[in-house]
Amino acid sequence: MDLTKRPRRLRRTQAVRSLVRETSLRVDDLIYPMFVTEGERIREPIDSMPGQFRFSVDALVAECREICDLGIPAVNLFGYSVEKDDMATKSYDADGLIQRAIRAIKAAVPQLCLQTDVALDPYTNHGHDGLVVDGEIVNDESVEVLCKMALSHAEAGVDWVAPSDMMDGRVGGIRRALDGAGFANVGILAYSAKYASCFYGPFRGALESAPKKGDKKTYQMDPANGREAVKEILLDIEEGADVVMVKPALAYLDVIAAVKAACDVPVAAYNVSGEFGMVIAAAERGWVDREQAIMEVLTGIKRAGADMILTYFAKEVAGLLD
Ligand code: PBG
Repeated sequence: MDLTKRPRRLRRTQAVRSLVRETSLRVDDLIYPMFVTEGERIREPIDSMPGQFRFSVDALVAECREICDLGIPAVNLFGYSVEKDDMATKSYDADGLIQRAIRAIKAAVPQLCLQTDVALDPYTNHGHDGLVVDGEIVNDESVEVLCKMALSHAEAGVDWVAPSDMMDGRVGGIRRALDGAGFANVGILAYSAKYASCFYGPFRGALESAPKKGDKKTYQMDPANGREAVKEILLDIEEGADVVMVKPALAYLDVIAAVKAACDVPVAAYNVSGEFGMVIAAAERGWVDREQAIMEVLTGIKRAGADMILTYFAKEVAGLLD
């Protein structure tokens, strides 16, 4: 054939492919989500998330040391065995599980970027991310509690708070609360475009945090909407978000790309528990190669525009990249 252009020339050898590779996944891109439980020396396997554990604070500190040694720059904490009530009062307890975990990790591994989830679902007896009044998830009252929660994490020494609740105005509320108390250096990683997704299933199993009644569709976004994600992102940036997030990642790669194009702050994506589970299940059946699937998925999320990725594969990937 008489071809002047032969794209295959740039795929001929490993060396050439590495020269022209547009996207590379680095260990520096990873944030490891972790689950905290009460007790001591506990490293309890999570049924719905093979290879993931609930750690007591002492075991969590040891794990964080390991994570830091692997070069993973950040972890994001979720609380498991916490007391629940209808006002989520334990969410802002200065001596609460997460607050104690923050202090312990910061004392032992201060160089790790420590992030915490800010939402009420582990702390409410109904399992919603906000307070419920007459069957409705109320916004402004919920934001007040979220601000107290974020502040209690800042007082314990957290680097970034990560509000995942999707209430309106919570980023601005939290920014004001932090600044007013002298925590101008505490960052906000906003779950700005968080969809009402079935892919959180294994996570809700891990935390036993599934809503007792109803679903989260009055606050989390409709999976059918893309432009609305850009609206949410721009609002959160206006309110003071340092980093914005799209969650889940895989069914929302177009959203990640649109968000990246629409703003000038770093973009995070959350490779959520159900996405993690799909790779594991398919690999267990021999349908895909586990390591290749993990790398392909995470590279795809980066190519779409994510600057950082929350993933349960973080430790494994650090090993693969090494
Ligand atoms: C809670 C929260 C959820 C996740 C992160 N924070 C679940 C939910 O909104 O129901 C999901 C993470 C995952 O599935 O890996 N606000």
